[in-house]
Amino acid sequence: MEHLISLKLWSPEQIREVLDLAKDVKENPAKFQDAMARKTLLMIFEKPSLRTRLSFEAGMTQMGGHGIYYHTGNSPMGTGKETISDSIKTASRFVDVIMARLFKHEDLLEMTEHATVPVINALTDDSHPCQILADLQAIEEKKGQLAGLKLAYLGDGFNNVTHSLMFGGTKMGMHVSVGSPAGEEYSPRADVVAECEQFAKESGGSVFVTDDPVEAIKDADVVYTDSWMSYHIPKDQEEARIAKFMPYQVNSELMAHAKPDAIFMNCLPAIRGCEQTAEVIDGPQSIVFDEAENRLHAQKAVILKLCGVA
Ligand code: CP
Ligand code: NVA
Repeated sequence: MEHLISLKLWSPEQIREVLDLAKDVKENPAKFQDAMARKTLLMIFEKPSLRTRLSFEAGMTQMGGHGIYYHTGNSPMGTGKETISDSIKTASRFVDVIMARLFKHEDLLEMTEHATVPVINALTDDSHPCQILADLQAIEEKKGQLAGLKLAYLGDGFNNVTHSLMFGGTKMGMHVSVGSPAGEEYSPRADVVAECEQFAKESGGSVFVTDDPVEAIKDADVVYTDSWMSYHIPKDQEEARIAKFMPYQVNSELMAHAKPDAIFMNCLPAIRGCEQTAEVIDGPQSIVFDEAENRLHAQKAVILKLCGVA
């Protein structure tokens, strides 16, 4: 049984397979219109979502199947009346594939232990692999390559998207540079950095972490940022976090240190005036909506691969 838990666990060949399939799915959607006929995806959400929920559900519809949106807030599993194990063993009897957006990554791992169908990580506190597969597809579309490109991530380094970008980027031979405030609650996890150093060694890429935003972004081909207030962060931390991250805001001045043809990415949702200015996200270098669109294509490819349909 193959799952998508983290890109850390996928080989460059597995990532390549999904990217190639995602390209085919995007260019030839009709080829896959019955690929999931009468199949059901269970979509478990503990946190909010726009893109993930819509793209998974629309993707299943477009492939002839169905997606069940299941928010845990009013379920036996989410209210402590039923264990994860019982819930997932039961769900596996009804559906063909499960995706879950959860607070704790360990809960996702527990799901994979008990599921008899594939499980897809749709964001945990650890990682967001579906996002990064869509991002890699978008980068390759715009730049014609992944290996050898410099991807600079600015802002919250202790972050699921940052960690997944580091895994995905270094596996695919990219030079990943992270500019984030010093301190372990703001910068990438030490174990992730160490693992990515190893992946980079194998792929010819590199990984670099600094608290200097200009050094991080210098000559980048791709500039990426994510929310300073991820879904799990309490509102009372907002003011302090804005002050901490403001030097890493992607604005025109900072973008000027990247390559002139650099693209700007944000997995969204975005706050103009925080992690980037309106000028940047709404400007000519921004590809954020092409990036968002690829969630649909990349996830269709993940579903097809894990279900053994393509
Ligand atoms: N990028 C992303 O996962 O967006 P949602 O939180 O809207 O799903
Ligand atoms: N880091 C963000 C990503 C949102 C798509 C979060 O966890 O909320």
